[in-house]
Amino acid sequence: MSNLDSFITRNRTAIAITAVASISAVGAYYYLNNQSQFQSQQEKEETSETTEVGKKSKKSKKKKKASKNSEESGVTESSTGNGSNNEKSTITTSHEFIYPVDSNNLPNFSQETIDKLSRKEKEDWALALKEDGNNEFKSKNFERAIAFYTAALQVKIDPIFYSNRSACYAALNDHKNVIADTTEAIKLKPDYTKCVLRRATSYEVIEDYPNAMFDLTALTIYGGFSNKSIEAVLERVLKKHSIKIVQNKEQVFKLPSASTIGSFFGGFRPDVVPEESNDESQDSADKLLWEFLQHVNANTVSGYDKADALINEVVEAYNVEELTPESPKAANASIALEYLASFQFLKNDPASAIISIGKAINLKPRGRTYVIRALISTDTQSFNEAIEDFEYAVQLEPESPDVYYQLGQLFYLRSDLEKAEENFEKAKELYPENVYAHIQLACISYKSNRLDEATERFTAAKLKFATSPEVPNYYGEILADKGDIAEAYKQFQIAARLQESLPTYSVGAIPLINEASLISREAYEKFDDAEKLLLKAYELDPKSEVAAISLAQIKLQKEEVDQAILLFEEASDLARSFDEKVQAVSFAEASKMQLRIKNDPVLSAKIKEIMRSNMM
Ligand SMILES: *[C@@H]1O[C@H](CO)[C@@H](O)[C@H](O)[C@H]1NC(C)=O
Ligand SMILES: *[C@@H]1O[C@H](CO)[C@@H](O)[C@H](O)[C@H]1NC(C)=O
Ligand SMILES: *[C@@H]1O[C@H](CO)[C@@H](O)[C@H](O)[C@H]1NC(C)=O
Ligand SMILES: *[C@@H]1O[C@H](CO)[C@@H](O)[C@H](O)[C@H]1NC(C)=O
Ligand SMILES: *[C@@H]1O[C@H](CO)[C@@H](O)[C@H](O)[C@H]1NC(C)=O
Repeated sequence: MSNLDSFITRNRTAIAITAVASISAVGAYYYLNNQSQFQSQQEKEETSETTEVGKKSKKSKKKKKASKNSEESGVTESSTGNGSNNEKSTITTSHEFIYPVDSNNLPNFSQETIDKLSRKEKEDWALALKEDGNNEFKSKNFERAIAFYTAALQVKIDPIFYSNRSACYAALNDHKNVIADTTEAIKLKPDYTKCVLRRATSYEVIEDYPNAMFDLTALTIYGGFSNKSIEAVLERVLKKHSIKIVQNKEQVFKLPSASTIGSFFGGFRPDVVPEESNDESQDSADKLLWEFLQHVNANTVSGYDKADALINEVVEAYNVEELTPESPKAANASIALEYLASFQFLKNDPASAIISIGKAINLKPRGRTYVIRALISTDTQSFNEAIEDFEYAVQLEPESPDVYYQLGQLFYLRSDLEKAEENFEKAKELYPENVYAHIQLACISYKSNRLDEATERFTAAKLKFATSPEVPNYYGEILADKGDIAEAYKQFQIAARLQESLPTYSVGAIPLINEASLISREAYEKFDDAEKLLLKAYELDPKSEVAAISLAQIKLQKEEVDQAILLFEEASDLARSFDEKVQAVSFAEASKMQLRIKNDPVLSAKIKEIMRSNMM
């Protein structure tokens, strides 16, 4: 995965940026300028996020109402005030007015009166009204200040007066009116950044994130793409927006890509279907289970789909609710439930999976049953529960290679390479046919800086599993990581060819995606070559979210933005974890923003202007 990750990471900046840019030259320019900063930027983001979370938990409803304005954004002006005490405050204006006022010293004149004024008088009145408004504002008499600015606007239309009045509404947390007034001001003066920022802040507060993003993007453009604080706010709003979209999406439990399923079941010895499976005299539930297992063992897309369609029927056939651990069918029923749990888990439904696996354990579990529960627990991040299940599994089947292989995985994921290696060794010894154990051991050698040993282990694995695309694929990933690009290409191509000639699903589209990512990494401009590979990958494994997301990135480079958006959205549906979904959605939303900016004549002109001056 390592170079895939870096591919995505690398392009992520470009994408966040193309949300800012509208012509590819800008994208490239900005991309180059940000490449080195991205890492630290991301770290910053993470820390700012943790503080945000901390804040949120402390934030009471009351406080949220008080001064959300200044809290929400790191870049708002400081002049947001206390809106709750304006009623009580005393009247501060007590001088001679050059315009009519009422008994409360608030301006009071009609349109007729204004119409009779000379040009000069109008100017004078407007200026005086604005100054009186400013004084009221300083004394935090926001409602009164609004009356003065409103009167000033009656005399003279001026973006400053709208801006001033919007500051009052902001202080009063009246975001609808902030937006209305800043919009008027921006109409009159499109690059009125103070108002654009104020409007963005209000949009963010009322959770109109797309409009907030549009304004923030405009600010980064007006700032010549050099304002980091605005960019950080933009990233934050994009993330909030994407989270909201993912949360509001109805969750559908679908099988992942066949290569994911294949590598999941590849970590276990297959359950063999006995010869007599076609015998008429066999138990009908067993026969269904065998049919199901044949589909699973086929390791093909259609096989997994058929297995998925059948598994509930298998469980029902065993009448599991009526069985006890002593029932003769308990062991087979347990296996059926265990597969049901596995499929539910693969379909990203851990809640159902944990129920099914619990039923399997209550009947007649085998070692693997506990391992599956451990995997479900690891996914929901309870490491201790997972370890406990592994202990049960070892007790039940001390010689099961599956148990040691999966335990090795668990330690590997937790970066405990020593324990991982120990368990993979044991798994390999007990079941030398598990290609993954060989690959993992080679990867551990590499990670532990024993490079010669890594090469030896890969070479040995290649000899033993001559037709396995896995070995060259993962070897290629390590070579790419090491910087041996030419050899990495070769390995990915071998892997892709081997996969092509296999009837079963193994690494699927991964070698193609890996090769495409190498191309993008090596030569940014060769996206036609990368695209060809990714189109093939996407065809080969339409459920691979990495294929979809990588292809989308290329489409974006080629300015086929509509297609990119569709692919990003698809990738989000295919992604397994919440974070991956959010990331894919944020790519889609950033791309939509790019389109919107492009269609905005003022902003796209501004971008072209910046580009010209930067090229000189
Ligand atoms: C707002 O003003 C009132 C009265 O002066 C005061 O009690 C309150 O603490 C202030 N709130 C904030 C958030 O400043
Ligand atoms: C405002 O002026 C009008 C006309 O001079 C007057 O009728 C009205 O009472 C005044 N309003 C206030 C609140 O004093
Ligand atoms: C009103 O606008 C002027 C000019 O931009 C500014 O100096 C002043 O601070 C503003 N007042 C408020 C309350 O926004
Ligand atoms: C970034 O933009 C904000 C809002 O327009 C502005 O207040 C701030 O001074 C800018 N910072 C830099 C470094 O230009
Ligand atoms: C189910 O049980 C029977 C014996 O009753 C056994 O022969 C068969 O292999 C079992 N099926 C599976 C899939 O384990």
